Amino acid sequence: MGYVGLPLAVAFAAEGHDVVAFDVDRCKVDALRRGESYVEDVADRALAAVAERIEATTRPDALARCEAVLICVPTPLTANREPDLGPLVDACRALSGVVQVGQLVVLESTTYPGTTRERVAPILAESGLVAGVDFSLAFSPERVDPGRTDHTMRTTPKVVGGLTEACGDRAEALYRDICDTIVRVSTPEAAELTKLLENIFRSVNIALVNELAMLCDRMQIDIWEVVDAASTKPYGFMRFEPGPGMGGHCMPVDPFYLSWRAREFDMTTEFIELAGKINQQMPYHCVAKVERLLNDAGKPVRGSKIAILGVAYKPGVGDVRESPGLKIVTLLAALGADVRYHDPFVSELPAHGLRSEALDVVLAGADLALIVTAHPGVDHDAAVAGVPLALDLRGVARHSAGGRAVLL
Ligand SMILES: NC(=O)c1ccc[n+]([C@@H]2O[C@H](COP(=O)([O-])OP(=O)(O)OC[C@H]3O[C@@H](n4cnc5c(N)ncnc54)[C@H](O)[C@@H]3O)[C@@H](O)[C@H]2O)c1
Repeated sequence: MGYVGLPLAVAFAAEGHDVVAFDVDRCKVDALRRGESYVEDVADRALAAVAERIEATTRPDALARCEAVLICVPTPLTANREPDLGPLVDACRALSGVVQVGQLVVLESTTYPGTTRERVAPILAESGLVAGVDFSLAFSPERVDPGRTDHTMRTTPKVVGGLTEACGDRAEALYRDICDTIVRVSTPEAAELTKLLENIFRSVNIALVNELAMLCDRMQIDIWEVVDAASTKPYGFMRFEPGPGMGGHCMPVDPFYLSWRAREFDMTTEFIELAGKINQQMPYHCVAKVERLLNDAGKPVRGSKIAILGVAYKPGVGDVRESPGLKIVTLLAALGADVRYHDPFVSELPAHGLRSEALDVVLAGADLALIVTAHPGVDHDAAVAGVPLALDLRGVARHSAGGRAVLL
């Protein structure tokens, strides 16, 4: 019942289905019972409208009553950057105790090709029931993009790959209720790889433009001007913007599921590794640029007051998982900077001992304002105008205060 599960639950409930909202996190279950959403894209109002159709529980037995079970657990990396299927294995074990003849089980979590067939099916088989025979099994990747409003769950085509043709038919029939377009692929593996291709495509293109941003910094060319100009080409170019690095649960993690799997097939996925390396370098590049700016003003980083605007990994959300903003806070604090932040979506950073403060409070007396994430509703123009130095990592203050902000 996280970023993926809760919107799905609400979408199905809105179409008149009774939904069991199962999660091992008691806090989430309690919040749902109180009618409180903890996902920005799901308004309390939307949850309240379907509250009587959603039964939130920490007990897996409730899943036995369902016609379909959608698995949306996290798929993180271990400390060694290998796939951590722990939550998925736990969820499948819990489900194997209650799975019923005739049920449909769909994995939505992003993972490497082969997971549904080689990991999920065998664990569910511990029930004595066989996937594709006694119950249906499919993979259908979630494509939610938190904070996005121009494409919705209904208008974003849903890719479905069944273990058998009949499994795919069942999954397709289910998703037709909440999604206008279903794209059938022949196997769960094709569906699993489709999701990874989408994420790797973004990761590689972001890395490309980030590498150019670092080069532009040395060559004293405005990368934003170049990206704007290239974007005028009506074909053959797709706009990607440079930034402080990639964050979120997906982009910095998912591609490595494929590179890990590829090693079993004697392949090194070089684009993935290279893109990861460049994107990971970006927070260091940004901090080096802060050091240079302060140096030019005759100030050391140590003791300088730095106001960070936005620490979430993207605008409009409160998710700080893998956020480059956290890395930047850590690096600047390690250099002895006096770091404060303003983020209307992230109230505190307990690991850093920081709380979000009002914009005017963080800007008061700041030596430098650093725009890390450009949240809607934050007055970046005023921020740039109100401090001696401003560094804009998102290109939102290009034209503010007579172009005072230095750009990434
Ligand atoms: N967040 C996104 O934008 C996004 C987009 C597309 C795909 N995905 C993929 O979807 C999956 C879920 O991502 P998310 O962002 O919703 O994660 P999340 O952490 O927000 O939610 C996952 C939920 O699963 C619960 N959980 C963990 N172990 C469990 C278990 N054994 N049984 C039941 N519940 C369990 C957690 O308590 C949590 O509430 C991941 O594979 C992710 O890569 C995420």
